[in-house]
Amino acid sequence: MCGIIGCVSKRNVSEIIINGLKRLEYRGYDSAGLAVIPDSGHKKSFHFKKTAGKISALETLINHADFTGTIGIGHTRWATHGIPAEKNAHPHFSCDKEVVVVHNGIIENYEELKEGLLKRGHKFSSDTDTEVVAHLLEEYIRKYSPLGSLQRVTRILTGSFALGVIFLKEPQTLYGARCNSPLIIGAGDGENFIASDVPAVLPYTRKIIYIDEGQVVRLTADKINIFGFDGHPHRALPTEIKWDIKDAEKGGYPHFMLKEIFEQPSAVESSISYYINSKGCGEFKSLANLKERIKKINRIVITACGTAWHAGLVGKYALEELCRVPVEVSIASEFRYGNPVLDNHTLFVAISQSGETADTLAALREAKCAKALTIALCNVVGSSITREADSTVYTYAGPEISVASTKAYTCQISVLLLFAVYLARLLGNLSSKKEKQLLKEIKTIPGKLKTVLKSSDEIRSFAHKYKNAPNFMYIARRYNFPNAYEGALKLKEISYTHAEGYGAGEMKHGPLALVDNTFPTVTIAVKSLVYEKMLSNIQEIKARRGIIIAVATEGDEYIKHMADDIIYVPETQEMFSPLLTVLPLQLLAYHTAVAKGRNVDQPRNLAKSVTVE
Ligand code: F6R
Repeated sequence: MCGIIGCVSKRNVSEIIINGLKRLEYRGYDSAGLAVIPDSGHKKSFHFKKTAGKISALETLINHADFTGTIGIGHTRWATHGIPAEKNAHPHFSCDKEVVVVHNGIIENYEELKEGLLKRGHKFSSDTDTEVVAHLLEEYIRKYSPLGSLQRVTRILTGSFALGVIFLKEPQTLYGARCNSPLIIGAGDGENFIASDVPAVLPYTRKIIYIDEGQVVRLTADKINIFGFDGHPHRALPTEIKWDIKDAEKGGYPHFMLKEIFEQPSAVESSISYYINSKGCGEFKSLANLKERIKKINRIVITACGTAWHAGLVGKYALEELCRVPVEVSIASEFRYGNPVLDNHTLFVAISQSGETADTLAALREAKCAKALTIALCNVVGSSITREADSTVYTYAGPEISVASTKAYTCQISVLLLFAVYLARLLGNLSSKKEKQLLKEIKTIPGKLKTVLKSSDEIRSFAHKYKNAPNFMYIARRYNFPNAYEGALKLKEISYTHAEGYGAGEMKHGPLALVDNTFPTVTIAVKSLVYEKMLSNIQEIKARRGIIIAVATEGDEYIKHMADDIIYVPETQEMFSPLLTVLPLQLLAYHTAVAKGRNVDQPRNLAKSVTVE
């Protein structure tokens, strides 16, 4: 939901800002802009460009040789207030053009603030909520220092904001502020950065400071100062980021999504190996101090959004089967409006790739208020959710750039399954022998994922065959049921084809009426407890002349009698099978989107990190 970057350096920053924006483009891509203070010129003023469209459109407007300056800020937008248009693109200026602002988030009290500013004679150039910040700073700067002004303005704003601000009055200083929207500092050598996310600054520094809620930062090329909104100085040490810069690049693949699909064997391997110790037992070091509390839980509540919610649904099957503890999986955006029942015997798990999803974060806060024991299952070190939960269990997927989540999903499922095994042992519900057998099996998954990926070309041919079908159904049961949702979501979000996920047993309660000889149903029918039931459900569709694309277990000859097309996956225990069966669904969505000429990595109307409610 919008990406911001700022840089103060001793060299030209315009190229750094454009490059950073490209790495943040997954956060929004309907308009973009940047402003720098040019080095030359008799009287200092901002040099800026903004445009509707993607960063590439902005780039064509900028000749880096002419657009030079050692301090600047940039923005890539996902519209909330005001249509995507040049006038609404950031940065936004005060009337006197002495203050420039970029913003990610929503200023909830902007209407009231704008009314006051208009009465006091300010002229607005956009329909955005952001612009009030520039005008308010213009008023405060008459009386206070830039730092004092920003601190005062942050105290009157409500809602969520990560801000980048430059004052002409202090042309070598970059300011940032954070409240409910992500913002990091990149501590460079003779240059410093602020950005919405780490990949934006990775080419320049690996030293990252995670700005806390309610902090204002002041950066020069050589110095970093952090303060509370109340003006008190704060201290923070940089964290060294381990991600390789190549992880945040396409590496020869046509799209990030395809690269990330193909990274799953190694991403899952990293996520699994972290939680299995040298004795072949599950170990969650970050939970060591919480063991006694965990033993007292009588209920688990999982909350997440979108794909992460689907991972939670898989987790429920494993946790209930192995731990015999009731598990509820709640959509984060519904959770806190539902008056949830929570207490200090509830284990609350918030799943989020980004760790910044506003609804998941809000649900976590609700759970904390109710004294539940809170655990984050997250991919991004230092993100908001990880900092607010009692403890964090990380996935080791590496940076996920494509808007459509793939490798984060399989890593989330892997870690949830390992967590279920660990918890079952802790609660005394699982023998050591069974634990070892389960962990031995999960270790075979990365190799099996590699085998599934070999079907990519074959799946491309299915995508071409079915690309014009306007509707798809995805059906499955038990552990694979959440993959029916996930497969449908992937197809919808990147190919814009309507698709629905259903529990296979539900077909005859309504959706079967949709089936005819033009209607494809993707069925997950791997060898499992519910295999025979799945075959019956497939027969019901075939009897209505429906088209069946089956995901089946290698060596299953019988299914050939029913399915029009089959994608085989290696055999594994049912509990681990969703890790394998989702890959063909990801690839089917990917190849369909490519065949339809869609923008795979940046689907319309979406953005990766949903930091607004
Ligand atoms: C779909 C997708 C989204 C995210 C959801 C939660 O492909 O990526 O549905 O899963 O927005 O995001 P995180 O996991 O960052 O909280």
